[in-house]
Amino acid sequence: MDRYAVIGHPVSHSKSPFIHTLFARQTFQQMTYEALDLPEDRFVEGINVLFANGLRGCNVTVPFKQEAYHYAQQLTERAKLAQAVNTLKVTDDGIILGDNTDGAGLLADLKLEFGGLENQKILLVGAGGAARGVLGPLLKANPAQVVICNRTPAKAKALADQFSDYGHVDYSLIEALDESFDLIINATSASLSGHALALPDALIHHKICCYDMMYMSGLTPFNQWAKNLGARQVLDGVGMLVSQAAESFAIWRGLRPGTRSVINELRRNLR
Ligand code: ATR
Repeated sequence: MDRYAVIGHPVSHSKSPFIHTLFARQTFQQMTYEALDLPEDRFVEGINVLFANGLRGCNVTVPFKQEAYHYAQQLTERAKLAQAVNTLKVTDDGIILGDNTDGAGLLADLKLEFGGLENQKILLVGAGGAARGVLGPLLKANPAQVVICNRTPAKAKALADQFSDYGHVDYSLIEALDESFDLIINATSASLSGHALALPDALIHHKICCYDMMYMSGLTPFNQWAKNLGARQVLDGVGMLVSQAAESFAIWRGLRPGTRSVINELRRNLR
């Protein structure tokens, strides 16, 4: 049996074992996938032991994504852009490859639910690791513009500056935001602490789609806010979670599982 895992701290809440077990069943793969907790200061030691004992690959989650980025012996372009790794794989040559499938997962889910991003004006809220992880793939999808805003504006400006070679990206002060956006993506961790974002109500109109990269059993505070104000569509991060997992699975196993049934199954499981 080939062995895979998600490594994090804490990690017992992770839905990845559930998702990958369904993928393996769906595609008839002989593999195991488990959640493994490593002490916060023991990532390298722990992962060395796991690979020495035959682990074929793993997902890496909070707080180890940057450490995994430095640990990988080879990086994909998108991992370099994200400066974070959520997928490690032992290649046929025995090299540890680091990739980041978060952005691809978001794009796949947006495509499924929202359609293409060409000519769309997108507001990306947040300028931390989650925002950085998806910005490159978002710009690659040829939107009209991505505008970044953040509670701490200097971080939004810095992120926009760093990605200016990759597409039409800018930053804005929150007070200056208007109703011109087609899609708002919440990449902040505010929903985790149950906070709604202090965004202007004027952003929301009857054609807008809002996407919270977080998820919970009910509507996230951000999606609740957008829905109350009449947004056309609100989506949460369940689809992104399953889609980034499918991308990791494809990297390891060379075949891509279907996501729709797994998204539905996970949603039922969250209730
Ligand atoms: P992650 O890896 O999840 O992105 P992070 O790098 O700590 O975590 O970034 C968290 C993001 O959520 C930041 O953009 C943060 O804003 P600041 O840069 O101003 O700290 C944002 N954030 C977290 N809680 C928030 C809240 N209650 N309101 C608005 N923004 C919040």
